[in-house]
Amino acid sequence: MTEKPPLLILAPIRGITDCHFRSLFQHHFPGFDSALAPFINPQRHSNFQPKHLKDLLPEENQELPVVPQLLHTDPDDFLHLSGRLRELGYTQVNWNLGCPAHMVTKKKRGSGLLPHPDEIFAFLDQVMPRLPVKLSIKTRLGLENKEELLHLLPRLDNYPLEEIIIHGRLGKQMYRGETDRETFGLCLEQSHHPIVYNGDINSVQIFRELQTQFPGINKWMLGRGALADPFLPGEIKGLNTPNRVEQLQHFHDELYHCYQELLDGPAHLLGRMKQLWIYLSASFPPQHKTWKKIKKCHTEAQYQKVTETLFAAID
Ligand SMILES: Cc1cc2nc3c(=O)[nH]c(=O)nc-3n(C[C@H](O)[C@H](O)[C@H](O)COP(=O)(O)O)c2cc1C
Repeated sequence: MTEKPPLLILAPIRGITDCHFRSLFQHHFPGFDSALAPFINPQRHSNFQPKHLKDLLPEENQELPVVPQLLHTDPDDFLHLSGRLRELGYTQVNWNLGCPAHMVTKKKRGSGLLPHPDEIFAFLDQVMPRLPVKLSIKTRLGLENKEELLHLLPRLDNYPLEEIIIHGRLGKQMYRGETDRETFGLCLEQSHHPIVYNGDINSVQIFRELQTQFPGINKWMLGRGALADPFLPGEIKGLNTPNRVEQLQHFHDELYHCYQELLDGPAHLLGRMKQLWIYLSASFPPQHKTWKKIKKCHTEAQYQKVTETLFAAID
């Protein structure tokens, strides 16, 4: 019997994994099977402006299947936007119950809703019977303590969810500390839904360890690990990429030119590229002090010179 190959999902990283990034990434570094888009959150708009949906336009998402993500807690807004997404051709939306940002959690959204199970179920009771698409959830172990999700999961079995993606941290941790594999394992025992593992898959070795620890899981979500090493999803799938440096540079240059066309001025352009370099600099030898050099660039000319030198040095 042959083993099923793992399914890999590109995690949403707001400010980086937009439709241009997703398409170019998949083109240069095949390995992901799908992506979850960063959340959209237009509250209280009955008519969503085109800018809210531009990341999800089908023509911009040809390379990699994508699932839109919503952060709403208002059932009518959620249903309205899901209807628009259905018109665009989407068959699934994802509800964000994991965002740890204080601005979000203080309004009882994202992971801020996890300590309030009754509000979660009231929302689902209103939304699910009228939802024109399938629903999945992306969540954390809790906001303040790891009992929160554990208590929610058995009750979530009553709803026909497509899957639940679990990032094994608490909201209050933001991105600090280790992912809590033990509690993730307990979550598996508490749910009949398909569960997707997420958090700190930063190397093939870590991935293999997790596969051994959780043999029942077949879907895995990778974010920062893939930004730091874009070859990681392909390596997990056993793909071999020759000319790695060339490939990385092509990807970088195409992304840069794409944003040069789209973004308004060097501050936005460099700001956007720097977001990626926070992670991508890990692909360069530590002695190159890559992030330090990129951070200091304030003009396009400086940036182009620094990046050319960096790529040439690892060639
Ligand atoms: C800058 C940044 C932006 C993020 N934006 C989103 C988002 O829009 N929606 C979401 O569900 N998760 C978001 N996340 C969380 C990631 O999708 C993922 O759950 C987290 O980084 C853990 O996975 P990783 O260790 O593979 O990166 C974001 C994370 C970071 C660091």
